[in-house]
Amino acid sequence: MVKAIQIGLLGFGTVGTGVVRIIQGHQDHLHRQSGSSIAIKSILVKNLEKSRAVDVGNAQLTLDPWSIINDPEINVIVEVTGGVNPTKEWILAAIKNGKHVVTANKDLMAMHGNELLAEAARNKCDIYYEASVGGGIPIIRALMDSFTSDKITKIMGIVNGTTNYMLTKMAQEGASYKDVLAEAQALGYAESDPTADVDGLDAARKMTILARLGFLTDVALEDVRSKGIRDVTQEEMKYASKLGYTIKLVGIAERQGDKINVSVQPTMMKNSHPLSSVNGVFNAVYVYGEAVGETMFYGPGAGELPTATSVVSDLVQVVKNLKLGVNGLTSDSHYKEKKVLSEAEQFSKTFIVLRVHDRAGVLAQITNLLAGHEVSLESIIQSPLQGEQGSELCMITHRSSKASLDGVLSKLNEMEVVRSIDSVYRVEG
Ligand code: NDP
Ligand code: HSE
Repeated sequence: MVKAIQIGLLGFGTVGTGVVRIIQGHQDHLHRQSGSSIAIKSILVKNLEKSRAVDVGNAQLTLDPWSIINDPEINVIVEVTGGVNPTKEWILAAIKNGKHVVTANKDLMAMHGNELLAEAARNKCDIYYEASVGGGIPIIRALMDSFTSDKITKIMGIVNGTTNYMLTKMAQEGASYKDVLAEAQALGYAESDPTADVDGLDAARKMTILARLGFLTDVALEDVRSKGIRDVTQEEMKYASKLGYTIKLVGIAERQGDKINVSVQPTMMKNSHPLSSVNGVFNAVYVYGEAVGETMFYGPGAGELPTATSVVSDLVQVVKNLKLGVNGLTSDSHYKEKKVLSEAEQFSKTFIVLRVHDRAGVLAQITNLLAGHEVSLESIIQSPLQGEQGSELCMITHRSSKASLDGVLSKLNEMEVVRSIDSVYRVEG
């Protein structure tokens, strides 16, 4: 009888539990897909006393990661503990021991993915990480394999479910940022320290991974400029809606000439763009290829079973590679030289809201200023301020460089007729 492929599972929390459920529940199907049966030999946990939601059969629970990493019978390590330390050390050691790795860990892959992939290639080992971006959405393998004949020019992602849930509630129910954050925490979407989600760090990590794959370039987390959603107000939501836009936290990776630009920021998405209707905790990744045009991958960005399906699909790929003897050959190590666009060189449309004095010539002064910086207006709405003297000016520019826009904003700040600059958002769609 052919021996089962032996798995060492690091972590038995939300995702680990899903992995056990799927491996147990889909055993016949997985055997047909991969040509082998898959058995979990050992599971690393932090607390042996904790009650577990699923029966582990013959698998051994252990507190000792090295008993798994150094076990010669284990072929594949599935890492779903999370965090960078000591996980990186465990994975490097496992690779040096010739073990293949499947991980859901976006922090680790964003910060140390290049090093881990290179080490895996040197040791003829696989590393797969489909669940690290978009949970259950099959986007990593799509970028690695399905787009290989095309040249991707833009990737836009709603890749953080917590913030998308919060922004959806703010837009649809008129709730305040503070209230929706408390609700997201009560529902377990946002952690008690919500920094990684609301400040855009989680999305930046995911965009690092997507940009690397999409542009075959050695993008580092430090190359991603990110801004979160803390300052998004109800007034801005209403403005967006009035103009036919929705505010979303969007990660954008794009080519401009031979350079790339990766950023995360609250963005005004035109309502006709498919990303604008991605609501609640759902995620979506929009990929534009020169030949294929627009594509979008949509689904659950987190959760036990959605995330575990990605992990176990990676596992099946490792087992298929084992059968074919091609492990370690698919690592994406053939990177091109990285050329990152400076912030000043970036081009985009921008939404600006100003409070201005309401008297003759104000609009003329402002439009002259824009013209002097070669910033062209796509639309402008002037409305009287409620309960106070003056007007609100809401403008959307055509695509202009960040350098030109910054020039405009600094001069607007100095103009006597401008009382305040209330909002500045990137516009897409
Ligand atoms: P959990 O916190 O639910 O589970 C973590 C597990 O790892 C627990 O079983 C814990 O043990 C174990 N563990 C943690 N640290 C140690 C340690 N030092 N030694 C031994 N065991 C340890 O995490 P999730 O399942 O939610 O997430 C796992 C990974 O998947 C993370 O990288 C996350 O970013 C990623 N991910 C998660 C998604 C989700 O929906 N949850 C979606 C996409 C990716 P014990 O049970 O004993 O406490
Ligand atoms: N905190 C993440 C989110 C979980 O809200 O999308 C999945 O990585």
